[in-house]
Amino acid sequence: MENHTKDSTMKVSSLNCIDLANDDLHLSVVSLKQACLDCGFFYVINHGINEEFMEDVFEQSKKFFALPLEEKMKVLRNEKHRGYTPVLDEKLDPKNQVNGDHKEGYYIGIEVPKDDPHWDKPFYGPNPWPDADVLPGWRETMEKYHQEALRVSKAIARLLALALDLDVEYFDRTEMLGKPIATMRLLRYQGISDPSKGIYACGAHSDFGMMTLLATDGVMGLQICKDKNATPHKWVYVPPIKGAFIVNLGDMLERWSNGFFKSTLHRVLGNGQERYSIPFFVEPNHDCLVECLPTCKSESELPKYPPIKCSIYLAQRYKDTHAELSIYHQET
Ligand code: OGA
Ligand code: NI
Repeated sequence: MENHTKDSTMKVSSLNCIDLANDDLHLSVVSLKQACLDCGFFYVINHGINEEFMEDVFEQSKKFFALPLEEKMKVLRNEKHRGYTPVLDEKLDPKNQVNGDHKEGYYIGIEVPKDDPHWDKPFYGPNPWPDADVLPGWRETMEKYHQEALRVSKAIARLLALALDLDVEYFDRTEMLGKPIATMRLLRYQGISDPSKGIYACGAHSDFGMMTLLATDGVMGLQICKDKNATPHKWVYVPPIKGAFIVNLGDMLERWSNGFFKSTLHRVLGNGQERYSIPFFVEPNHDCLVECLPTCKSESELPKYPPIKCSIYLAQRYKDTHAELSIYHQET
């Protein structure tokens, strides 16, 4: 368990800020590259998603979590990783956490109907939706947000490609973000964390996939640790900026780039205030072979990781961090 010394000052990180409306592409790429080499966390502004719409998405999210548990359990997550995840369902840092994360969530993936030839892929399928009579307009709002966040992710991926000396459209290919796995997750955090007792709103982890776009409300809570090898870990807060996404790179991109770009440890501490956030997890196609990018290897820099299929890698990471679904179906 973490040896926690109470600190009266709140340490805050400053991150690079990428302006998607900036015409100076070179400047954006230089700033992005620096962030990716340094810590893999940055802000993104002027992404074209309107603030009023964002407020709507958060309002709808609040309405869902405010429903009685019984109603939420009707859309409990399924084997395709969609639907409601109860409090403690996920445990991101088993070494330091006594229980699971003090958060509940709702996963929404790409809607693939049962008559689609790809519907049986592990991260595709139909989404469960709360009853439209209970939450009118909910599905439409979430589907619109999913579309918009995917558009922003693709714009960021073009800058990432340039920062990696790849062709600007490199990640747009069908086997990558042309037909991606993209999952949004509504989250509600409650309670007070206490690292000295192993209680966390969200345990320390790095994200599994390519990148994550995080929208948060104004409540502080997210912390990053830039050097995972330091002992003890040094944690700094990432303050929310209104209208900005906090974007971070995931382990799959660290692997893809041969460790050149960083995925960084992060966690959430609860301070007793309710906190809502919406991460949007972006990964390439199920069948994408994640192997060292052509620009990240040389005669003196050989690939450090064996190639692995995206869906196999992701499935393993979900299995390692989520409770077995069978615990919710046991007869009492
Ligand atoms: C995550 C995560 C941070 C937050 O869900 O992977 O790191 O602020 N979330 O909710
Ligand atoms: Ni995360």
